[in-house]
Amino acid sequence: MASGVWHMEKRSSIRNDSFVDRGDSEGSLECGSLSIIVLGASGDLAKKKTFPALFNLYRQGFLPPSEVHIFGYARSKMTDDELKNRIHGYLVPSKNATPELSDDVSAFLRLIKYVSGSYDTEEGFQLLDGDITKYECEQNSQGVSRRLFYLALPPSVYPSVCRMISLCCMDKSKNGGWTRIVVEKPFGRDLESAEQLSSQIGELFDESQIYRIDHYLGKELVQNLLVMRFANRFFLPLWNRDNIANVQIVFREDFGTEGRGGYFDQYGIIRDIIQNHLLQVLCLVAMEKPVSLKPEHIRDEKVKVLQAVDRIKDEDVVLGQYEGYRDDPTVPNTSNTPTFATVILRIHNERWEGVPFILKAGKALNSRKAEIRIQFKDVPGDIFKCKKQGRNEFVMRLQPSEAIYMKLTVKQPGLEMSTVQSELDLSYRQRYQGVVIPEAYERLILDTIRGDQQHFVRRDELKAAWEIFTPLLHRIDDGQLKSIPYKPGTRGPTEADTLLENAGYIQTHGYIWIPPTL
Ligand code: BG6
Repeated sequence: MASGVWHMEKRSSIRNDSFVDRGDSEGSLECGSLSIIVLGASGDLAKKKTFPALFNLYRQGFLPPSEVHIFGYARSKMTDDELKNRIHGYLVPSKNATPELSDDVSAFLRLIKYVSGSYDTEEGFQLLDGDITKYECEQNSQGVSRRLFYLALPPSVYPSVCRMISLCCMDKSKNGGWTRIVVEKPFGRDLESAEQLSSQIGELFDESQIYRIDHYLGKELVQNLLVMRFANRFFLPLWNRDNIANVQIVFREDFGTEGRGGYFDQYGIIRDIIQNHLLQVLCLVAMEKPVSLKPEHIRDEKVKVLQAVDRIKDEDVVLGQYEGYRDDPTVPNTSNTPTFATVILRIHNERWEGVPFILKAGKALNSRKAEIRIQFKDVPGDIFKCKKQGRNEFVMRLQPSEAIYMKLTVKQPGLEMSTVQSELDLSYRQRYQGVVIPEAYERLILDTIRGDQQHFVRRDELKAAWEIFTPLLHRIDDGQLKSIPYKPGTRGPTEADTLLENAGYIQTHGYIWIPPTL
């Protein structure tokens, strides 16, 4: 931390607070002690995402050392220093390792204490509670204790861990304190298991204490969706079945499951990406305008749109598996688990009837990107023969190279009258030079500290999401739908492109959007 001063106004570097209506939530960092407990501290998620996000929040002044302490908890027997050595390398990309940053890293690591214990017996959790309480007393927190438990763990241990927390580790404040739980996906394997998990945790904690994280909701451009849609007159009259031909929400990775095959094989691309990340984006694209920005108003609208999704038909699905996926020794030779899927969802309501929402996700493809692509219908009575140039599209590029652009037909500059496709381009790198876009996890952890559940998945939302995909997933698990092999480094099975064409998507051949360079 460069200045050494903990200014609360630093919050505005992440976003303009006056913009967010947090309803009844309390979010002050200004009183009491805050303990952040990372359960599963020795695991990959904690190392690669949770601790680096906490470090960045610390560096930006959101976790003042006078108020905050961080605890790592896991089964492995380790000393504090061993945990710190494990995460150290993930805190700063080495190319940025200035002496100033190194000081920050050392100061951040001093906030961390490690406790080892099992996930299903009271002993370890009592130890943990003892350490937290000791720290709270030292902090002179005036009896206000805030405890944030981040479960960077497999869902199989959520129920026992939640039971232990509720038995041994709840905050003991008389007023002003809280205990909150952050849970990660996969939240269940299907409707039944997710509901079982929800009720097990629901018996121990109120919905207001449970933060189901979907890190796509923390991405900059996903957070921009509601602003784009509801703060711009341009879009209001166009955003419906009269004008929009189809919507695509696409996730592509140019690498395979890379050492995660054993985990991935139990879930597959639909559970890993589509049922959560892409469906959450769909909600924000398709929902009606909420009454206000209060978290419950937004989540009410998300639930409604999910409930309007029709049952998925087999002919609206193409599954793929890249060649070489089964070479991973942890993947069975007979696995049918899809590493690629295109699924068309149809929303049965007044705004969207007849507009296909194409969700597509794949591993080991020819590029890495995530985007939302809204394709408009052809211009009626087209005197320029624009169709040849391609349709209007509104694209939000979530990553990499965040951008929002509109594909338009314009006059080809020059003497002759001819048309060409071009774009109005808001490329963040160019427009917001020097602005650091925060990592999704940073924002979401900060939201949790502030008690803002807007960007977290509510229990009924999760249920509606599983209701959409469970019948399809069961048919895949039963082997009724087969994954088509595709070569790594390609677009996936060609059948998926045919499905897209049949759904009415018209690709503009020859047009390539090139992110501007500075
Ligand atoms: C995770 C999935 O939720 O998201 C991974 O489990 C995937 O399979 C990752 O690679 C992608 O996240 P991002 O932020 O890199 O798009």
